[in-house]
Amino acid sequence: MRHLLSVSDLDAATATSLLDTADRLKQALLGREVHKLPTLRGRTVITLFYEDSTRTRVSFEIAGKWMSADTINVSAKGSSVSKGESLKDTAATLAAAGADCVIIRHPASGAAHRLAAWLGREGGSGGSGPAVVNAGDGTHEHPTQALLDAATLRDRLGSVAGRRIGIVGDITHSRVARSNVMLLATLGAEVRLVAPPTLLPVGVGDWPCRVSHDLDAELPGLDAVMMLRVQAERMRGGFFPSAREYAIGYGLNERRLAMLPEHAVVLHPGPMVRGMEIAPAVADSPRAAVLEQVRNGVHLRMAVLYHLLAGAPEVR
Ligand code: CP
Repeated sequence: MRHLLSVSDLDAATATSLLDTADRLKQALLGREVHKLPTLRGRTVITLFYEDSTRTRVSFEIAGKWMSADTINVSAKGSSVSKGESLKDTAATLAAAGADCVIIRHPASGAAHRLAAWLGREGGSGGSGPAVVNAGDGTHEHPTQALLDAATLRDRLGSVAGRRIGIVGDITHSRVARSNVMLLATLGAEVRLVAPPTLLPVGVGDWPCRVSHDLDAELPGLDAVMMLRVQAERMRGGFFPSAREYAIGYGLNERRLAMLPEHAVVLHPGPMVRGMEIAPAVADSPRAAVLEQVRNGVHLRMAVLYHLLAGAPEVR
């Protein structure tokens, strides 16, 4: 395995190894004035983003730079993609230019898998093309988000195994939810999805989790609650009556925060829509780990690049 396309590529040992590497990198950089390790000197990492991003793109770029890789950002808006160039031709161009790793975000589910297949390394270990990392493909998966969420849960709770984690909101359109359900189950957590019936995908009954429509009933039993943004940009038609109605049923406000056990942590992958899925006072409370998630994202993405490019144990 030479790419990171899906959390289904990760067994518990490999996922834990990535989390441990991220932790070691975090400790290695702690207190240093200069965030620079020589590990990936001479390697070229390209972020290829066909969708907007702040956290994922910036943290991959910082991760590459902190490991001394040459990092280059390509976005659909400023590249020959806007002139009609296909994903396949763009990928071949980046490989020919010398990329060692292409990190792709794309609105189409499966785009990262297609890219890996075109670059000739899917499932094999002898290829010479770039490694591919899925930085979010449509509504399908966002594996590094799930890994950084697991890192944050380990930091805050001490462990993931045996913990009960609620994932709340727009499950249908959330690649973060898909990757998290699979990874958390792999790591031994018990996952509860909480959403209105209209925001649960077809086939959710086959996922390794339980489903509820009643947030108030679930909160007292959770060790962590992950609030999801309602992804209006992916919706065709009405999934709930209004933003206000949604917030009343599924928003995490101060009253609901008080229903969680004292040790429970609040996660949000960002970007947050304050006042809808999360109240400003909750987002800014010490119970919320939103910025810790971002910080862990840098170390976690350093670990992924390290495992893929520096000869560390393969991702699977
Ligand atoms: N969580 C996440 O993927 O955020 P960005 O869209 O800002 O990268």
